[in-house]
Amino acid sequence: MLEDLETWLERVYQADGERSTLDALYDEWAQDYDQQLWASGNPYIAIATGYACRHIPDYGARILDAGCGTGNMGQLLHQAGYRNLEGLDPSSGMLAVAERKGFYQQLYPLYLGAEVDLPDESYGAVVAAGVLTHGHAPPESLDGILKLTRRDGIIIFSLSQIAYDDYGFRQKMDELDAAAAWQRLDQSRLFRTYPFSDREDGLRHWVLACRKC
Ligand SMILES: C[S@@+](CC[C@H](N)C(=O)[O-])C[C@H]1O[C@@H](n2cnc3c(N)ncnc32)[C@H](O)[C@@H]1O
Repeated sequence: MLEDLETWLERVYQADGERSTLDALYDEWAQDYDQQLWASGNPYIAIATGYACRHIPDYGARILDAGCGTGNMGQLLHQAGYRNLEGLDPSSGMLAVAERKGFYQQLYPLYLGAEVDLPDESYGAVVAAGVLTHGHAPPESLDGILKLTRRDGIIIFSLSQIAYDDYGFRQKMDELDAAAAWQRLDQSRLFRTYPFSDREDGLRHWVLACRKC
C-alpha cells in the first residue's frame, strides 16, 4: 500500500507542475487515493481541522476547501460540525469522488492561483491541505486565497518545507507579513507528511492558520 503511495507521489512530482499531466495523474489516482492517504498516517488534514475548530467558531461559516481532491478535508470538517462547505480542484476524477461523499454544497473545477474565478471576499474561511507544495499551487495562490477570504476571515493551509525553501513561498509569505495582509495565528511543528513511509528523505510539512487583515 505504501509502495503504491510512493510510486504515485514520484509520478506526481515528476510532472513538475505541468498542469495537464498533473491533472491526468490525479484523475487516475482518484479511485485509490483515499485508501493510500489514510494508510500513510498523513497528519495535515487532522491538524488543519483542529485549527479550524480553534479559529472558526461559526459552524455555519462559508468555507472553501481549495484543492479539495477527493474531499478528505471536507469529511473531517463536516464531522467536526461545519455545514457550509464548498470545494475547488482542477482534477475531474478527484472532484467526482468528492461529489459522491456529499459533504460539499458546491464543487468547482478550478485552479488556485493569483486570481481564482470566484467572487472576492465571499468566504469566511479558506482551507488548503496538500496543495501548497512544489509542482502544485504556486506561491501567488496565497494572494488568490486572501482575495477570496472576507476581512477577518481565516486561512488554514499546509505548506511543504521544500516549497517554502526552494519554490518561492518564503518570499511570498515575507511579503504578506510586511504588507500586514494577514496575522499569523498558529503554526504546527514541522512533521513528516507520510509518517508510516520508510523513506527518511520524504516530504515534510507545516500547517498554518492566519487571519486576513
Ligand atoms: C495531495 S492532493 C490533496 C487533496 C486533499 N486536499 C487532501 O488533503 O486529501 C493535491 C490536490 O491538489 C490539486 N491541485 C493541484 N494543483 C492545484 C492548483 N493549482 N489549484 C488547486 N488544486 C490543485 C490536485 O488536483 C489534488 O487533488
